[in-house]
Formats: sequence, structure tokens, C-alpha cells
Amino acid sequence: MTLPAGSHLPPLLQTLAIVAQPLKFLDACAAQHGDTFTLRVLGINSPPVVFFSNPQSIQSIFTTLSDSFEFGQVTHIFRPLVGNQSLIMQAGAQHQRQRQLLMPALHREQLYSQGNLICQLTRSRIEQWQTGASIFIRQEMAEISLQVILQVVFGLVPGERYERLRVLLSQLLEAITSPLYSTQFFFPVLQQNLGKQSPWGDFLHRQKEIDSLIFAEIAERRLASPSSEGSQDLSQRTDILSVLMMARDEQGEAMGDQELRDQLMTLLLLGHETTASGLTWAFYWIHRHPECLARLARELEAMGDTPDPVALSQLPYLNAVCKEALRVYPIALIAQPRKVKHAIALEGYEYEPGSVLVPCIYLAHRRAKTYKNPDQFQPERFLEQKFSPYEFFPFGGGNRSCIGMALSLFEMKLVLATVLSCYELQTNYDRPVRPSRRGITFVPPDQFRLSVSRKKSSRVLV
Ligand code: HEM
Repeated sequence: MTLPAGSHLPPLLQTLAIVAQPLKFLDACAAQHGDTFTLRVLGINSPPVVFFSNPQSIQSIFTTLSDSFEFGQVTHIFRPLVGNQSLIMQAGAQHQRQRQLLMPALHREQLYSQGNLICQLTRSRIEQWQTGASIFIRQEMAEISLQVILQVVFGLVPGERYERLRVLLSQLLEAITSPLYSTQFFFPVLQQNLGKQSPWGDFLHRQKEIDSLIFAEIAERRLASPSSEGSQDLSQRTDILSVLMMARDEQGEAMGDQELRDQLMTLLLLGHETTASGLTWAFYWIHRHPECLARLARELEAMGDTPDPVALSQLPYLNAVCKEALRVYPIALIAQPRKVKHAIALEGYEYEPGSVLVPCIYLAHRRAKTYKNPDQFQPERFLEQKFSPYEFFPFGGGNRSCIGMALSLFEMKLVLATVLSCYELQTNYDRPVRPSRRGITFVPPDQFRLSVSRKKSSRVLV
């Protein structure tokens, strides 16, 4: 079988190169081989892993060829965290059923009712910022994003259970980004419960505590009925858990408690760091480009002191800034790898079962034939031109595309607008940064901070 040309390094060295310096390695391969190249990056016995960045091939992978693939090469590492019934563990009809149940809850219009809550959560987090303070933006964004998940997705109200879950989840999410702690998820042999002091025992203990709080919340929600005093009828609630509890599949079946728990953990795991990272990049870029910041500030000013969140989310330049931030350094460098089930042809090559095809978001977004000055942050490009879903796809595409896209874009816009309406910030970091890996995302390095130069007194901080 002839494959597109690619690296001649031994598979082990290729694997190490992509793990240690993914951007550098991918850039070098694209410079040498163009849009499509073959690597062996899945260890010593790696099958061919073919990277694609031209829109025609991406379109075929996302559409006409979408039934020719298997998934799960990467997602199995999440199984202990999200559970067997999670959307990301499913294939075929079961995957489709779950997407149909989940997607209406995460639909753009469904989220509109949560806009004020997102703005309010942001304001209460940032109200302590003092003039002159140095703000660790990524950490602040992670905290806001976690609270959005707890209130908008889980539908929790602040109180004892909320606080306990907030602390436990943020500790777990922090722990799994540490290289040492996360190793156990990659190697099942390390998953040995040797008591609470052992890494796996510690994980199981934390998880048990989190699960008991989630199950208690679900049980309480099930008991709530219009007649029970002080509690709100499920059908009137707009948080995502309540909408999921009301959802029925084609057979009229609802999700059970375990399935609901698994989906909540999935939304938390995939929706938390990703959105926080996207926001951090947006802050980084606009503060490196004062002309973009000034244009955005003018657009926001024109909305008055108490803008409607839905109207904010429709502002064209704000939208362009968020998209451009997700283009230049996409949070996920690749969409999920697609393993070929039965032989297929693409771009004049035949791919045997077992080969792995990878839509490379990072290289597609940096493609000079698609984007003029691809390395530069220029939000205007999104006002001047419409890019196809095969040229710009930070959320992947096809039947595995991100189900949190509407939520994360809505959240990014509202958080960015709220912070900029309350403060003037400035960067102390004058060198360009390279993304650093954090869990499954690529973020500005920890040294990146913004300092508060002015609190805008005209804006109300709640
Ligand atoms: C800036 C923020 C985000 C980015 C860049 C992002 C990116 C992605 C990408 C690239 C994929 C793989 C798509 C593919 O293989 O074609 C994905 C899948 C997924 N994302 Fe996101 N995501 C973000 C936020 C979220 C949020 C907020 C949630 C949930 C609340 C979420 C939930 C999911 C789920 C459940 C999947 C798996 C879908 C499936 O397997 O059917 N993501 N995301």
C-alpha cells in the first residue's frame, strides 16, 4: 500500500517528537510534505497515522466517509473518569441516540436563558480585582468556567452541596492535569487500588465522594414536583441536567441515573479546561494587539451599561475575536483520530483497515492557501470572509463534532464582554508566547498575567 510521504524517523522517535513538541513537529512535517503526510506516532508498532489539512479531504472525512471509521483510540483514557455510559464511549446507533438526547439541551437558543447567570457569575468572581493587581487569567477563567458548568450544566444552586462539589471537582481537574497523576489513566496496569494513599486509591476515593453528591442531586431533582413545596418543577427548569432528565429517546426512554452522571462528568471534563483556555487565548491576543482591544471596547461601549446577553453574543467583532483566538492556537490541535474500518480511497490513496486518519485542526487553521498571513491575529478576516466548516473547525466536525460548541462560544463572548466592561487590563508580557500543554488543551504558559490598570466605575459590579 502506498501512503502519502512523511517522516522517516523510527516510530518511537516520531512518537516522542509529537508528545514533546507537537507544534514544532507538525509545522516541520507540513513544511516538508504539504497538506497530507504519514506519521507513525502511536508507539513502536504504530499503524500509519495520516494527517490532513486541506479542506477537500477534511470534508470527505467529516461527511461522505464518516461511516468508515471507528473511534476510541484516544477516548479510552477518559473511561475511568466519565464512565461506560458516557457519550464519548459509544459507537454507532447508541452514540447517535445519546447525541440526539444531549444536543437539544446544548442548543444555542436553549442557552439564551442562561446568559444573565453567566454574566453574573463572571462579575461576582472578578469584583475583588484591585487596581494594580496581577491577574492569573487562566486560573480565573478556569474558576468561572467551573462555576458555569456547576450552575448552567448541573443546575446547582450555591449552598453546601455546591461548595463541596466545586472544591472536589476543581481539585480532581487540577490533579488530572499533572503529568504524574495522569499517567495512571494511560496505563491500566497502574490502576491498582492500594489504599487511599496510592494514586489510584486516591482517585477512586475522590470519585466516590463526587458521585455521591451528584447522585444526591439527581435524586432530589427527581423527587421535585410542582406539589412539593419550595422546589421547582423539572419541566420549568432550564439547566442542562433538568433538560436531560426530561429528554426521551425514540422509544420514549429517559436516561437512568448512571447515564446522567456519566454525561455530566463528560460535559465537565470536555467543557471546563477547553472553554477556559479559549478565553485565556482571547485575553492574550487582544492585549497583544491594542488596536483590536480598542475596536472591541468601542463595540462593547455602544451597548450601554446593562447590555442584553443575547445581543452581546451577536456582536460581530466580539464574535470575530473569539473565532480568531480559536483559529490561531486551537485548543485541540486535532479532531479525534479516525481508525479506518474497511478499505477506503481518498486523494488517490487507498487506506487499509487499521490506518488512522487525523483531521489536523492546527495545520488547517495555519494553511497559507486558506488564510492570508496565517500566523497573525487578525479578527477582521472573519468579518471579511466566510470560512467553510472544513477550513475553520476548532470544534471538529461530522458525527463526532463538539456538542458544547454553542455553550463555549456563548460563554466566551459573555465572559470577555463582562470583564472588559468592568476593567482595563494590560499585559506585562512583551514576548510572544508558545502554547504549553495542559491536560488535553494547549494554553498560554503560566507566566502569562494581565494587570488591572483601571476599574471602570461606570459599570455595575454585582
Ligand atoms: C473552546 C471550547 C471547546 C473546544 C475548542 C472543543 C473542541 C472539541 C473537539 C475538537 C472535539 C472533537 C470533535 C471531532 O472529533 O470531530 C470535541 C468533542 C466534544 N466536546 Fe468539545 N470543545 C469545547 C468545549 C466543549 C464544551 C463546553 C463541552 C460541553 C459542555 C464539550 C463537549 C464535548 C463532547 C461531549 C465531545 C464529544 C462528542 C462526541 O464524541 O460525539 N466541548 N470538542
